[in-house]
Amino acid sequence: MKQHLILETAHLLLAHHLSENDVVIDATVGNGHDTLFLSPKVSHVYAFDIQKQALDHTQKLIESHQLSNVTLIMDSHEHFAKYVTAFKAAIFNLGYLPGGDKDITTTSETTIKTVQSMLEHLPVGGFIQIVVYTGHEQGKIESDHLKDYLRTLCIEQFKVMKIELPYQDNQPPYILIIHKKKDGS
Ligand SMILES: C[S@@+](CC[C@H](N)C(=O)[O-])C[C@H]1O[C@@H](n2cnc3c(N)ncnc32)[C@H](O)[C@@H]1O
Repeated sequence: MKQHLILETAHLLLAHHLSENDVVIDATVGNGHDTLFLSPKVSHVYAFDIQKQALDHTQKLIESHQLSNVTLIMDSHEHFAKYVTAFKAAIFNLGYLPGGDKDITTTSETTIKTVQSMLEHLPVGGFIQIVVYTGHEQGKIESDHLKDYLRTLCIEQFKVMKIELPYQDNQPPYILIIHKKKDGS
């Protein structure tokens, strides 16, 4: 089995669902791996993080790969609408910055608030992809709260898919994808 099967699967799905005219939000830039993956596949990536360390690292990646379609934004993703309102998809990779301060993590309150608002902005056919980590305390809380929130979504309007490794006992991450099927009435 591949070492990062969940992350590779998340990228495969993004490559399948996105195309060159799409605008995408990377809501949790971190070390920039997802932004780097998305950039050549879409027209523009708006990339958010609250940590300067993450954005500095990603800025270097952008320069070394000569990417011209990424806007790095040092702000919480909950303020995304100040910067971009028309987008095909948004991705979240929850938790803390690998190699960084483990006390600075995404939180269920902010993540859910942002997802809720993004779902309103998404076009029909758009989606939000979230990689969820349950291997740390805040991650478990976020996972539970997300589950409770997603259960409340209108099933006529949204399809929620979960991809997981159910028989591994080391708390691997899992993927949630929320597809918008139709606008609200
Ligand atoms: C697991 S890392 C992301 C990994 C990243 N996608 C990559 O490819 O390396 C999570 C990131 O979310 C950031 N973060 C936490 N809360 C945030 C918020 N409210 N808005 C934006 N970024 C946030 C953290 O600073 C951290 O860098």
